[in-house]
Amino acid sequence: MAANTLGRIQGIGSLGLMALLLGACSPQAAPNATAPTLRPVASIQELMQDVIDPCADGVWNAVETVTTQAGDQLHQPQTPDEWRGVRRAAMVLVEGTNLLVMDGRRVGAKEFAAEAAGALDSAHIQQRIAADRTAFEGFAAALREGGLSAIAAVDAKDPAALLAAGGALDQVCENCHLAFWYPNQVIPSFPRDDDPRHPIFRSGT
Ligand code: HEC
Repeated sequence: MAANTLGRIQGIGSLGLMALLLGACSPQAAPNATAPTLRPVASIQELMQDVIDPCADGVWNAVETVTTQAGDQLHQPQTPDEWRGVRRAAMVLVEGTNLLVMDGRRVGAKEFAAEAAGALDSAHIQQRIAADRTAFEGFAAALREGGLSAIAAVDAKDPAALLAAGGALDQVCENCHLAFWYPNQVIPSFPRDDDPRHPIFRSGT
Protein backbone atom coordinates (compact mmCIF):
# COMPACT_ATOMS: atom_id res chain seq x y z
CA MET A 1 0.00 0.00 0.00
CA ALA A 2 2.70 2.41 1.04
CA ALA A 3 4.85 1.34 -1.92
CA ASN A 4 1.88 1.80 -4.22
CA THR A 5 1.22 5.33 -3.02
CA LEU A 6 4.88 6.16 -3.42
CA GLY A 7 4.80 4.78 -6.96
CA ARG A 8 1.81 6.94 -7.81
CA ILE A 9 3.46 10.04 -6.38
CA GLN A 10 6.62 9.32 -8.38
CA GLY A 11 4.46 8.81 -11.47
CA ILE A 12 2.78 12.16 -11.02
CA GLY A 13 6.17 13.68 -10.31
CA SER A 14 7.72 12.54 -13.57
CA LEU A 15 4.62 13.50 -15.55
CA GLY A 16 4.81 16.96 -14.00
CA LEU A 17 8.49 17.20 -14.87
CA MET A 18 7.76 16.21 -18.48
CA ALA A 19 5.07 18.89 -18.73
CA LEU A 20 7.58 21.41 -17.41
CA LEU A 21 10.24 20.37 -19.91
CA LEU A 22 7.74 20.47 -22.76
CA GLY A 23 6.62 23.89 -21.59
CA ALA A 24 10.18 25.15 -21.59
CA CYS A 25 10.68 23.97 -25.17
CA SER A 26 7.49 25.46 -26.54
CA PRO A 27 7.93 28.88 -28.19
CA GLN A 28 4.78 30.24 -26.49
CA ALA A 29 6.26 29.69 -23.03
CA ALA A 30 7.86 33.13 -22.78
CA PRO A 31 5.84 35.61 -24.82
CA ASN A 32 7.99 38.55 -23.71
CA ALA A 33 11.33 36.91 -24.35
CA THR A 34 12.28 39.54 -26.95
CA ALA A 35 11.03 42.56 -24.96
CA PRO A 36 13.91 44.44 -23.30
CA THR A 37 14.22 43.88 -19.57
CA LEU A 38 14.68 47.56 -18.87
CA ARG A 39 12.53 50.23 -20.49
CA PRO A 40 12.97 53.85 -19.46
CA VAL A 41 9.56 55.51 -19.16
CA ALA A 42 10.09 58.90 -17.48
CA SER A 43 12.13 61.60 -19.18
CA ILE A 44 15.15 63.08 -17.39
CA GLN A 45 12.96 66.13 -16.80
CA GLU A 46 10.29 63.99 -15.13
CA LEU A 47 12.92 62.20 -13.04
CA MET A 48 14.16 65.61 -11.88
CA GLN A 49 10.66 66.85 -11.06
CA ASP A 50 9.22 63.68 -9.54
CA VAL A 51 12.16 61.78 -8.06
CA ILE A 52 15.41 63.71 -7.66
CA ASP A 53 14.10 67.13 -6.61
CA PRO A 54 11.45 66.03 -4.05
CA CYS A 55 13.86 63.48 -2.55
CA ALA A 56 16.62 66.07 -2.25
CA ASP A 57 14.08 68.30 -0.48
CA GLY A 58 13.43 65.46 1.93
CA VAL A 59 17.12 65.49 2.83
CA TRP A 60 17.54 69.27 2.83
CA ASN A 61 14.46 69.98 4.93
CA ALA A 62 15.38 67.38 7.54
CA VAL A 63 17.89 69.62 9.28
CA GLU A 64 17.69 73.37 9.36
CA THR A 65 18.84 76.20 11.54
CA VAL A 66 16.06 78.58 12.42
CA THR A 67 17.17 81.99 13.64
CA THR A 68 14.85 83.64 16.13
CA GLN A 69 15.29 86.45 18.61
CA ALA A 70 16.04 83.77 21.18
CA GLY A 71 19.00 82.63 19.06
CA ASP A 72 19.67 79.85 16.56
CA GLN A 73 17.71 76.64 16.87
CA LEU A 74 18.67 73.45 15.09
CA HIS A 75 15.65 71.51 13.84
CA GLN A 76 16.29 67.83 13.20
CA PRO A 77 14.30 64.59 12.91
CA GLN A 78 13.07 63.48 16.32
CA THR A 79 10.96 60.34 16.08
CA PRO A 80 11.96 57.04 14.44
CA ASP A 81 9.31 57.76 11.79
CA GLU A 82 10.89 61.11 10.97
CA TRP A 83 14.35 59.55 10.62
CA ARG A 84 12.81 56.79 8.50
CA GLY A 85 11.23 59.40 6.20
CA VAL A 86 14.59 61.07 5.58
CA ARG A 87 16.23 57.73 4.93
CA ARG A 88 13.51 56.85 2.43
CA ALA A 89 14.04 60.13 0.55
CA ALA A 90 17.81 59.55 0.42
CA MET A 91 17.36 55.94 -0.72
CA VAL A 92 15.02 56.87 -3.57
CA LEU A 93 17.45 59.61 -4.58
CA VAL A 94 20.32 57.11 -4.64
CA GLU A 95 18.39 54.66 -6.80
CA GLY A 96 17.19 57.58 -8.91
CA THR A 97 20.79 58.12 -9.99
CA ASN A 98 20.73 54.65 -11.56
CA LEU A 99 17.58 55.59 -13.44
CA LEU A 100 19.21 58.79 -14.71
CA VAL A 101 21.93 56.93 -16.59
CA MET A 102 19.78 54.23 -18.19
CA ASP A 103 20.34 53.92 -21.92
CA GLY A 104 17.69 55.49 -24.09
CA ARG A 105 16.37 57.95 -21.51
CA ARG A 106 15.16 61.13 -23.28
CA VAL A 107 15.68 64.57 -21.77
CA GLY A 108 12.04 65.58 -22.23
CA ALA A 109 8.83 63.67 -22.94
CA LYS A 110 8.34 66.39 -25.57
CA GLU A 111 10.84 68.87 -26.95
CA PHE A 112 11.03 71.99 -24.79
CA ALA A 113 12.44 75.46 -25.37
CA ALA A 114 15.20 77.07 -23.34
CA GLU A 115 13.73 78.28 -20.11
CA ALA A 116 15.91 81.32 -19.47
CA ALA A 117 18.86 83.24 -20.86
CA GLY A 118 21.89 80.98 -20.90
CA ALA A 119 19.86 77.77 -20.58
CA LEU A 120 19.58 75.20 -23.37
CA ASP A 121 16.55 73.70 -25.06
CA SER A 122 15.90 69.97 -24.80
CA ALA A 123 17.56 69.14 -28.14
CA HIS A 124 20.80 70.83 -27.12
CA ILE A 125 20.77 69.26 -23.65
CA GLN A 126 20.30 65.85 -25.31
CA GLN A 127 23.20 66.53 -27.69
CA ARG A 128 25.48 67.62 -24.86
CA ILE A 129 24.74 64.49 -22.84
CA ALA A 130 25.40 62.31 -25.89
CA ALA A 131 28.66 64.14 -26.55
CA ASP A 132 29.96 63.63 -23.01
CA ARG A 133 28.21 60.68 -21.45
CA THR A 134 31.21 60.02 -19.22
CA ALA A 135 30.81 63.39 -17.51
CA PHE A 136 27.05 62.95 -17.21
CA GLU A 137 27.51 59.54 -15.61
CA GLY A 138 30.24 60.97 -13.37
CA PHE A 139 27.83 63.59 -12.00
CA ALA A 140 25.16 60.92 -11.48
CA ALA A 141 27.72 58.82 -9.57
CA ALA A 142 28.66 61.86 -7.46
CA LEU A 143 24.96 62.36 -6.68
CA ARG A 144 24.75 58.72 -5.61
CA GLU A 145 27.73 59.21 -3.27
CA GLY A 146 26.04 62.30 -1.77
CA GLY A 147 22.87 60.30 -1.19
CA LEU A 148 24.85 57.47 0.39
CA SER A 149 26.47 59.95 2.80
CA ALA A 150 22.99 61.14 3.73
CA ILE A 151 21.93 57.55 4.44
CA ALA A 152 25.04 57.01 6.58
CA ALA A 153 24.25 60.21 8.49
CA VAL A 154 20.68 59.02 9.10
CA ASP A 155 21.90 55.64 10.30
CA ALA A 156 24.29 57.40 12.68
CA LYS A 157 21.47 59.82 13.70
CA ASP A 158 23.98 62.59 13.11
CA PRO A 159 22.31 65.90 12.13
CA ALA A 160 25.62 67.68 11.45
CA ALA A 161 26.67 64.95 9.03
CA LEU A 162 23.23 65.12 7.40
CA LEU A 163 23.63 68.86 6.95
CA ALA A 164 27.06 68.32 5.36
CA ALA A 165 25.70 65.60 3.06
CA GLY A 166 22.93 68.00 1.98
CA GLY A 167 25.50 70.66 1.15
CA ALA A 168 27.53 68.21 -0.94
CA LEU A 169 24.37 67.13 -2.78
CA ASP A 170 23.52 70.72 -3.61
CA GLN A 171 26.95 71.21 -5.15
CA VAL A 172 26.53 68.15 -7.40
CA CYS A 173 23.11 69.34 -8.64
CA GLU A 174 24.62 72.67 -9.53
CA ASN A 175 27.66 71.17 -11.28
CA CYS A 176 25.63 68.87 -13.51
CA HIS A 177 23.15 71.64 -14.34
CA LEU A 178 26.02 73.99 -15.22
CA ALA A 179 27.51 71.39 -17.54
CA PHE A 180 24.34 70.24 -19.30
CA TRP A 181 21.41 72.56 -18.64
CA TYR A 182 22.51 76.19 -18.35
CA PRO A 183 26.19 76.33 -19.38
CA ASN A 184 25.87 79.92 -20.53
CA GLN A 185 23.92 81.32 -17.64
CA VAL A 186 24.25 85.02 -17.06
CA ILE A 187 24.70 85.87 -13.39
CA PRO A 188 23.56 89.45 -12.77
CA SER A 189 26.09 91.38 -10.72
CA PHE A 190 25.03 92.14 -7.18
CA PRO A 191 24.08 95.82 -6.72
CA ARG A 192 26.66 97.97 -4.97
CA ASP A 193 25.93 99.28 -1.46
CA ASP A 194 24.90 102.69 -2.77
CA ASP A 195 22.63 101.23 -5.46
CA PRO A 196 18.92 101.76 -4.69
CA ARG A 197 18.32 98.10 -5.65
CA HIS A 198 20.60 96.93 -2.83
CA PRO A 199 18.62 95.29 0.00
CA ILE A 200 20.35 97.35 2.68
CA PHE A 201 19.80 100.63 0.81
CA ARG A 202 17.63 103.07 2.76
CA SER A 203 16.40 106.06 0.81
CA GLY A 204 17.50 109.35 2.32
CA THR A 205 20.42 107.88 4.30
C1 HEC B 1 23.68 63.98 -13.87
C2 HEC B 1 23.22 65.31 -14.09
C3 HEC B 1 22.25 65.93 -13.14
C4 HEC B 1 22.30 65.94 -11.77
C5 HEC B 1 23.35 65.33 -10.87
C6 HEC B 1 21.16 66.69 -11.34
N1 HEC B 1 20.43 67.12 -12.41
FE1 HEC B 1 18.71 68.21 -12.33
N2 HEC B 1 18.72 68.34 -14.35
C7 HEC B 1 19.62 67.74 -15.20
C8 HEC B 1 19.33 68.12 -16.55
C9 HEC B 1 20.07 67.64 -17.77
C10 HEC B 1 18.24 68.99 -16.49
C11 HEC B 1 17.61 69.74 -17.68
C12 HEC B 1 16.42 69.08 -18.21
C13 HEC B 1 15.20 69.65 -17.58
O1 HEC B 1 14.88 70.82 -17.77
O2 HEC B 1 14.56 68.91 -16.85
C14 HEC B 1 17.86 69.10 -15.10
C15 HEC B 1 16.79 69.83 -14.61
C16 HEC B 1 16.41 69.91 -13.30
C17 HEC B 1 15.22 70.60 -12.83
C18 HEC B 1 14.22 71.33 -13.71
C19 HEC B 1 13.12 70.39 -14.14
C20 HEC B 1 12.12 71.10 -15.04
O3 HEC B 1 11.06 71.44 -14.55
O4 HEC B 1 12.46 71.31 -16.22
C21 HEC B 1 15.20 70.48 -11.47
C22 HEC B 1 14.16 71.03 -10.52
C23 HEC B 1 16.36 69.71 -11.10
N3 HEC B 1 17.07 69.38 -12.24
C24 HEC B 1 16.71 69.40 -9.80
C25 HEC B 1 17.86 68.74 -9.45
C26 HEC B 1 18.32 68.58 -8.09
C27 HEC B 1 17.60 69.10 -6.86
C28 HEC B 1 19.50 67.89 -8.15
C29 HEC B 1 20.39 67.47 -7.03
C30 HEC B 1 19.81 66.86 -5.86
C31 HEC B 1 19.76 67.62 -9.56
N4 HEC B 1 18.76 68.16 -10.31
C32 HEC B 1 20.86 66.93 -10.01
C33 HEC B 1 20.67 66.92 -14.83
C34 HEC B 1 21.07 66.68 -13.53
